[in-house]
Amino acid sequence: MDLGFQGRRVLVVGASAGIGFATAELLAQDGAEVMIASRDPAGIAAAAERIGAATGRRPAHAVADITTEDGADRLLAEVASRWGALDALVDAVGGSIRSGFEALSDADWIGNYTFNVLSAVRVVRASLPLLRKGRAPSVVLLGAAASRMPYPNQVVSNVHKAGLLGLTKTLAGEYAAEGIRVNCVAPGRTLTRLWTDRAAKMAAERNVTAEAVIAEFAHEIPLGRFGAPEEVAAMVVWLSSPRAGYVTGQTVNVDGGIARGLL
Ligand SMILES: NC(=O)c1ccc[n+]([C@@H]2O[C@H](COP(=O)([O-])OP(=O)(O)OC[C@H]3O[C@@H](n4cnc5c(N)ncnc54)[C@H](OP(=O)(O)O)[C@@H]3O)[C@@H](O)[C@H]2O)c1
Repeated sequence: MDLGFQGRRVLVVGASAGIGFATAELLAQDGAEVMIASRDPAGIAAAAERIGAATGRRPAHAVADITTEDGADRLLAEVASRWGALDALVDAVGGSIRSGFEALSDADWIGNYTFNVLSAVRVVRASLPLLRKGRAPSVVLLGAAASRMPYPNQVVSNVHKAGLLGLTKTLAGEYAAEGIRVNCVAPGRTLTRLWTDRAAKMAAERNVTAEAVIAEFAHEIPLGRFGAPEEVAAMVVWLSSPRAGYVTGQTVNVDGGIARGLL
């Protein structure tokens, strides 16, 4: 199926690794003009190189930290000077802290709020003037299955990822009249460095292998395995495409069935 990405200008933030990287690679494969961004200059340059080598379409790249006050504004200024408009934004920045409730400080709460929610607010807000000039404009945020089925020992991201559901629905309503669609993809356990780092840490604490930790967590997933970043990216890409032109305000789980609620 042609998703209509030829000539479509897409910014993917949080794209040097994981789901953001897989999304940018799929978009390039599908013919989009892609710009990727994240914090580490070497990491984002290497990602652009890898995507170029794999697809023949090297994305533009930029260094940005969207948790800072002006990081998103400066990034979108680069997009403005390159394209003058934006057709789609994907924000793949975020993460969790594994901790019990009482061990979390105010700084942990505020830091994770900035990482998951305020960064999304800032990057969407900075993108709106360019999206208004774009064709079939779309925003996709990355939430988490935990927003529908809170995980034990992850209270801080359970709360903040649930906030993204509200943000998605509200923005979708607010900007529908301007033709800007806003959706959210909620991954379950997906094998990116977020999990490889976590599994290595837990393995060291428990004196087992990282593979054993992954197998233990995979056991709870109805499909019996972790997701691949490409499997989440496929949904992000579809929602970003004009093929999803009648879909807005939705949070779609890509989670191997782990969130068992009806909604
Ligand atoms: N993997 C999972 O199991 C899982 C589950 C549920 C939800 N999610 C969500 O899915 C999204 C992507 O997760 P992932 O597993 O793909 O993460 P990841 O592998 O850790 O990759 C995160 C990417 O974001 C960049 N980044 C981090 N902080 C940034 C910032 N402040 N500004 C700009 N870029 C930043 C990182 O590069 P730099 O470090 O160089 O900046 C990297 O490119 C996140 O929102 C996460 O919460 C993931």
